[in-house]
Amino acid sequence: MGTYKIVVLPGDGIGPEIMREAIKVLKVIEDIINNVNFEFIEYECGGQYWLKTNHKEEWPIEAYETCKNESDAILLGAIGWTDPATGKTVSYPDGKMVGLEVLFGLRFGLDLYANIRPTKLYEGVQHKISGEFRQIWKPENVDFVSIRENTEGLYADTHGNLKRNESIEIATDCRLITRKGSERVITFAFEYCKRRNKGAPKDGKLRVTCVDKSNVTAGCKLFRQVYQEIAPRYPVIEQDYAFIDAFTQWIVRTPEWFDVCVIPNMFGDIATDLAAVLQGSLGMAASGNVGDKHGMFEPIHGSAPKHTGKNIINPIATISATQMMLDWLSGKHNSDPHLKKGAKLIEEAIELVLKDGKVRTYDLGGNSSTSEVGDTICQKLKEIA
Ligand code: IPM
Ligand code: MG
Repeated sequence: MGTYKIVVLPGDGIGPEIMREAIKVLKVIEDIINNVNFEFIEYECGGQYWLKTNHKEEWPIEAYETCKNESDAILLGAIGWTDPATGKTVSYPDGKMVGLEVLFGLRFGLDLYANIRPTKLYEGVQHKISGEFRQIWKPENVDFVSIRENTEGLYADTHGNLKRNESIEIATDCRLITRKGSERVITFAFEYCKRRNKGAPKDGKLRVTCVDKSNVTAGCKLFRQVYQEIAPRYPVIEQDYAFIDAFTQWIVRTPEWFDVCVIPNMFGDIATDLAAVLQGSLGMAASGNVGDKHGMFEPIHGSAPKHTGKNIINPIATISATQMMLDWLSGKHNSDPHLKKGAKLIEEAIELVLKDGKVRTYDLGGNSSTSEVGDTICQKLKEIA
């Protein structure tokens, strides 16, 4: 019997509301699949927790240690709190947002160097453009995965200031791209493409697109050079290149061309929010931050302070994050078929509920509540198990 310890970090704003639905789904998985059990260890964290502890800490000290030494996987809701009344984000005197210690503590501390961000459009989901819902992309054309480098680039802790007379005169962020960082994330992308074994919707070809700005920056030249060194080890996977600026229009115009894309940190951050539009809503986009040992799974959206406590947020991104977590755990545990089955069932349940079209949150043109969507997915899981 596999028992997996999951650290749950609901975080700020709507984090606890969406996490509640994700846990409901995992509890159904426990019920319907033999040999899968979860032990949930929950910690409060983020800007609101920091306020509650009188600015003492962003999360309990033992939370990080538990994530590092005891957990099989980590689930994160959202971090960052803006007081809806004042519009002020909870920040330190230097302007740094409170809560980043949790997010970056995990990404950097646990060396979660690959950020897996699938862009998949489900049948029945429409696109909200200028307030109207319409079908723009065909579901069969939107199914690619971005692998965002997650531990260096513009996110490296090189941020600094030159102050004169207490005034900031110069601000710098040095973009660090290393051979090691590039090698491991690019190898990860090729391995991921091989394991996914799906190919691009357009032609079924396995393809890894190297997304960079190597016509200009030295870091991206190194990134592309490393890609070219690694790619020949995977002769069945087609090599493909895109500059980040052109990439943003290609994913909109011909998403069907893409299978797996590998992208430096900040470019990947920006491109995947755009890619979420193809999925219908940011509320649909899930992600997995993974390294060689640890994995942390989260929706890519934020804490949506103004919607907090209203039970209206789409929980599907977080439920999809649990699906990614089970898939990753299965790979880690000798392709555990039970976990794999759990992941497959969650994906199928989401697909069927969206296709059905009766229950959906406001971002997808409906008026169902967060908990209704969670309950309907749980119900569907029981039906298809
Ligand atoms: C994301 C977010 C974070 C990032 C923020 C909250 C720091 O935008 O996960 O994409 O920039 O990585
Ligand atoms: Mg982002």
